[in-house]
Amino acid sequence: MRIDIVTIFPAMIEHALRAGIVGRAIERGTLEIAARDLREFTTDRHRVVDDVPYGGGPGMVLKPEPLFRAIDAIERERGSRSHVVLTSPQGTPLTQNVGERLSRLPHLLVLCGRYEGVDERVRARVDEEISIGDYVLSGGELAALVIADVVARFIPGVVGDDQSVAADSFSRGLLDFPHYTRPSEIVGLDADELLKVPEVLLSGNHAEIRRWRKRESLTRTLARRPDLLNDASLDEEEQEILRELVAKPRRK
Ligand code: ADE
Repeated sequence: MRIDIVTIFPAMIEHALRAGIVGRAIERGTLEIAARDLREFTTDRHRVVDDVPYGGGPGMVLKPEPLFRAIDAIERERGSRSHVVLTSPQGTPLTQNVGERLSRLPHLLVLCGRYEGVDERVRARVDEEISIGDYVLSGGELAALVIADVVARFIPGVVGDDQSVAADSFSRGLLDFPHYTRPSEIVGLDADELLKVPEVLLSGNHAEIRRWRKRESLTRTLARRPDLLNDASLDEEEQEILRELVAKPRRK
């Protein structure tokens, strides 16, 4: 899969993409992500990408023509239509499901908006607007990086162990269970307090461990994000645990 990100800050995208799991996947060629400088698609001497809003008011608005030219040029390069996403706080909320859907496309073209605005006529060429949350960023670059990261994780071979993406509790609509590593005991802030790893995780009993993790995931989801349970896909065991928890709740 290839993702083109059209931005006025290509360096911001490039730097961020060098690190971590996604950076390694790009190096290996498992996926391609290119930052495209919007100014390259201007035709004037000063490479102007924004202008004052008609009707007055503060801030600058991204001009339509450079964005249209960017879309045209990238589609011409690819020889096919691209799925065009505009980052915007007015967009559809990004979820794990949206990420999965986008990961099945051969090509994604992400236009980074500016908070002050993007000329409305650009929306004629946009397939969908995506928001990464109910808050305001100064530009779409961080949103584009978040979208690229979420999408990349669904591409086979990006995350080392394919299973871990499918098993991500969030992929199934639940919050994650707690994780621990060695040592099994550490001294707490209070010197006489020992912070211990739950006994069950040291037991080697895999059935018990699986059940404990399910219970912890469900307990957390119920306490912190009960809204997620409406769309979660729970197996029989999880449904049974949830019934117990609802009957006898505990905070987590
Ligand atoms: N641009 C500004 N804020 C944004 C947000 N929350 N999501 C996506 N793009 C944005």
